[in-house]
Amino acid sequence: MSTLYAGYQDQIYRSGTAGRRPPFTTDHSRLERAARDVMAPQAYGYIAGAAGSEATMRANRAAFDHHGLVPRVLRDVSERDLSIELFGSRLPTPLLLAPVGALGLAHPDGEIAAARAAEETGVPLVLSTVSSHSIEEVAAAAPRARRWFQLYWPNDTELTLSLLERAVANRYEVLVVTLDAFALAWRPRDLDRGYLPFHRLHGLANYLTDPAFRHLLPKPAETDPAGAVQRWSELFNDASRTWASIPFLREHWHGPLVLKGICHPGDARAAVDSGADAIVVSNHGGRQIDGGVAALDALEAVVAAVGDRTTVLFDSGIRTGADTVKALALGARAVLLGRPYVYGLALGGTKGVIHVLRGLLAELDLTLAMTGHRTPAALDPSVLVRT
Ligand SMILES: Cc1cc2nc3c(=O)[nH]c(=O)nc-3n(C[C@H](O)[C@H](O)[C@H](O)COP(=O)(O)O)c2cc1C
Repeated sequence: MSTLYAGYQDQIYRSGTAGRRPPFTTDHSRLERAARDVMAPQAYGYIAGAAGSEATMRANRAAFDHHGLVPRVLRDVSERDLSIELFGSRLPTPLLLAPVGALGLAHPDGEIAAARAAEETGVPLVLSTVSSHSIEEVAAAAPRARRWFQLYWPNDTELTLSLLERAVANRYEVLVVTLDAFALAWRPRDLDRGYLPFHRLHGLANYLTDPAFRHLLPKPAETDPAGAVQRWSELFNDASRTWASIPFLREHWHGPLVLKGICHPGDARAAVDSGADAIVVSNHGGRQIDGGVAALDALEAVVAAVGDRTTVLFDSGIRTGADTVKALALGARAVLLGRPYVYGLALGGTKGVIHVLRGLLAELDLTLAMTGHRTPAALDPSVLVRT
């Protein structure tokens, strides 16, 4: 058996024999509860919450239960390789850390701790525009981490270009442009507390350190923080953009360009036609639209539409190795993990994120073997039965 990823299981049992337990639960369903106990209520509400009645978030999870994995036996799966090919290079596993804003809410070291976990595990970190630590701080703290940059496309050209230049200068390899958050969704957990982290200056590190943003402020942010927040909310996004806007980014970003937040086959076709190198099928973890289609169900339709023309990535609802196998079998090349790693961060900083990632990768490795496969690329829908 491969010891690289499934070996985490063996390591846990050996430590157990010597009287040591894992740092916290290996059960993903208990992870969220454990994190809630150590987090400030408003921070937990912001991270765990979703749009409206949270029906989309529930649907994301339920969709995984509608696909059953079929075990296979006697297929020599003793040697396995979780690596995948992406944009002409290899990633050690089909897993990425999704862009999650304001990670300082979960742990004082925020994105720095997440980036160090990325460095340690080889799992790339997609750094959010609205991060608690800046593009430069994260790169300096984890120089060997594979880093991608997620853009919330501001309504200002100078600021946009400045963010892109900073990402290039600090060796962020891939640009992920998030398209499904051009408006802030109706989120009752936050509304009931009147709590939005950005209004309290959480998650604005990339703006407050940006010369183009600072230039747009009437007074320095240090003396007029409320004015800086106001300017930020005016610039944050632009709901008037269309597919005709994408070539601007293609022109100014020379690395791989990924469009995130695609659920409709028509949008997927438009993304490919606009010159994107990949798309992320995602409904933002159910945080944007309520009463929405499960991201996993959208994945099938999108892969049918463009799976032969582009690379499809997936997020929203991934909690376990089995979930990952299901998404890969339905045509995703890789998956992004959202809330679970943030809970790991809250529970144990860098080590907590590493524990969550190693657990998920061990499960993925074992599930791959038990479905009779040696590599992620070998998976296809025949491993699934709709239940
Ligand atoms: C607290 C929180 C903040 C997020 N912030 C961002 C962000 O800044 N940029 C972005 O593209 N997506 C953001 N997302 C969405 C994630 O990238 C991802 O799509 C989602 O978390 C995946 O679903 P999951 O949490 O069920 O794994 C955020 C998600 C959460 C939970």
